Amino acid sequence: MKAGSSSPAKIILFGEHFVVNGNSAIAMTIDLPTIVIAEYTEVENITIASKNLNLEVTFTMNGRIQRSKGVNAEHRLHPIFKMIRSLLHNDKQGLKISIDSRVPIGMGLGSSAAIAVAIISSLATLTGRTMQKDEIFQAAYSLEKQIHGRPSGIDQATVTYGGMIIYRNGKVETRYSELPKLPRIIIGNTGKRRSTGEYVGKVTQLRTDHPQEYARLSNEAQKVAGRAIFALKEGKDQELGALMNENQTLLERIGVSAPSLDNLIVAARTAGALGAKLTGGGGGGCMIALANDTNAATVAQAIQNAGGEVISSQFAKDGVKPIEWNE
Ligand code: PMV
Repeated sequence: MKAGSSSPAKIILFGEHFVVNGNSAIAMTIDLPTIVIAEYTEVENITIASKNLNLEVTFTMNGRIQRSKGVNAEHRLHPIFKMIRSLLHNDKQGLKISIDSRVPIGMGLGSSAAIAVAIISSLATLTGRTMQKDEIFQAAYSLEKQIHGRPSGIDQATVTYGGMIIYRNGKVETRYSELPKLPRIIIGNTGKRRSTGEYVGKVTQLRTDHPQEYARLSNEAQKVAGRAIFALKEGKDQELGALMNENQTLLERIGVSAPSLDNLIVAARTAGALGAKLTGGGGGGCMIALANDTNAATVAQAIQNAGGEVISSQFAKDGVKPIEWNE
């Protein structure tokens, strides 16, 4: 017997980092799928295979390696083993989990949240449970808390529910399954991998060392997010772009931008983007730019000329969902 689930990826339009301490943030899902297939096996062990990374490891139920294929495979797949282990209640049943993801890893597009929610959802189907979205989100959020310090839960919420969400204090305040009329969003990847936890840690340090300065920047960021929600509803593209630039300045002030990101952001703005900012944890990873239909191609080309990889994707209105089999 086997069961599968598919999850989208995500981008954060406004409010990353400040959302960790209770601010509002706006995020949406994009159609880069992560597909997980879970199946029972006869032998009592857990095999994890990543198709796109060409890795496969079989672990005993206690986490010892039985077989391994691919460079550094044990190290790279062990966090997923730990996640699966903490979700399993039956020690006796062998399992194979196959992952096929189009989301670049560690680039701020929610790859780990996408894998987590797709695993949770496919294991639920495999074991005959119906899990509501709220339960999937809570399970993924608590797994993420075990992995890195103080996540806000925005990645897990976005890829679970799908569409565009306004997120605050561990909750989805509003969800749009249809996109408000938006200018074009271009995603540029610096190709520089980094750890979100490290950058969340940097901001926590700043907040501890300079509480007043942090509070001032956080208030500003909350105002920007509030105005962005309004500009989105009203279809005020110019204003939305200007707010993205303001958001980027605040992210620079809390120390989470990086030369690789600044380079692509400047290139996009110079080519006529309405606005541009980093997306996600910063330090590298991805940036986004807003552009009109008329200059979207020029902005994309400028990002590429500056050394970025343009990730082509569309808005996805669905979050994680089971895959229907035709067999
Ligand atoms: O996982 P990333 O890199 O997309 O970043 C998630 C957003 C942060 O605000 C930086 C962290 C969080 O938990 O909200």
